[in-house]
Amino acid sequence: MILVTGGAGYIGSHTCVELIESGYDVLVLDNLSNSSRESLHRVERLTGHKVSFVEGDVRNGDILNVLFDTHDIDAVIHFAGLKAVGESCECPIFYYENNIECTLKLVQAMQDHNVKNLVFSSSATVYGDPQKLPLTEDMPLSATNPYGRSKLIIEEMLRDLPRADELTHSDNPWSVALLRYFNPVGAHKSGQIGEDPNGIPNNLMPFISQTAIGKRDCLSVFGGDYNTCDGTGVRDYIHVVDLAKGHVKAVQRLLSEQGLDGVQAFNLGTGHGISVLEMVNAFKDCNHVDVPYQISDRRPGDVAACYADVSRAQTELGWKAELGLADMVKDSWRWQSRNPEGYRVIG
Ligand code: NAD
Ligand code: WQD
Repeated sequence: MILVTGGAGYIGSHTCVELIESGYDVLVLDNLSNSSRESLHRVERLTGHKVSFVEGDVRNGDILNVLFDTHDIDAVIHFAGLKAVGESCECPIFYYENNIECTLKLVQAMQDHNVKNLVFSSSATVYGDPQKLPLTEDMPLSATNPYGRSKLIIEEMLRDLPRADELTHSDNPWSVALLRYFNPVGAHKSGQIGEDPNGIPNNLMPFISQTAIGKRDCLSVFGGDYNTCDGTGVRDYIHVVDLAKGHVKAVQRLLSEQGLDGVQAFNLGTGHGISVLEMVNAFKDCNHVDVPYQISDRRPGDVAACYADVSRAQTELGWKAELGLADMVKDSWRWQSRNPEGYRVIG
């Protein structure tokens, strides 16, 4: 069985679908601070399988101990965490407390129960302001905001675990996959699960979808004077279903005969950069909808371009993104147009 913390959230719910479809039993621990119980009901309907769910906080060591005592857990995927960059600048203590304490309590419980296979949700944000593109996993790391720093601190903390195994001659050493996601977008092709942000979206794709459906008047394109193909910011957008499959591959590797040696980082992206205007135009053309936009000032903290070298994930995990820009925009729109209020059921 796989314990999935934060499994009711955007990436977690899609990963539960792919895990179940690959034959794994799934146990979700989520405090629903940024998600809804409905997402997992829909995962159950989509897969025809039960998802065991516990509503609780990963920072609660007692809950973790009960879960490890009462379930046969082979590996953990740790999604639970807060992820809004702007909010993290306003409330850094809250971010460090939630993201770091969750991970500390989790690895303590894992160690106590001798379950030492972990997949951790890291982020391309750990590369800071890229000096060279595409980004490979061994490039210098830095943080430009407290959210990113929380990921960097956790990565470094996790690297100490196999070092301790060596010193203590552990016969069951830690195996940890740090998955550095680039820009996750899209939704399950059924239109049943997707990204459901609270309030005004910070990220590009949900803002485009909400503008297309009339919830927002106009998209502000943050900066038209970057040194990129059309002056707008370039990112490596990755379909959330491809990303979810990357987690299955990582779990399979951890649980394989070969295993995974210590802590290893993997970029999960497509390897291709797409500009904001390319994304807006693809959304309009593929979905036959209007997306009013205006070019505005750059957003502080944004980099001009960021995209991954994805060869390590391909070589080591046998994973490669398969879905393209048209899938990303069509699936985002299917989710948005069928669920205008997200998981809040209307009527
Ligand atoms: P999300 O907010 O949809 O999912 C996170 C889930 O964790 C939510 O369901 C939330 O309720 C839960 N959670 C938060 N704190 C918790 C706690 N203390 N105890 C229990 N549950 C808790 O976010 P997501 O987009 O699915 O992201 C999942 C992970 O991937 C996060 O760690 C995020 O930092 C990371 N990540 C996300 C992106 C992105 O753009 N979406 C990019 C890179 C990395
Ligand atoms: C993408 C592009 C914006 C909104 C963030 C986090 C990162 C990771 C993924 C978690 C940029 C432009 C955006 C808008 C716009 N999350 N944009 N108008 O900033 O690359 O990454 O999410 O780990 O840590 O920083 O993603 O979707 O916010 O922006 O023009 O209303 O779209 O300037 O070029 P970003 P994003």
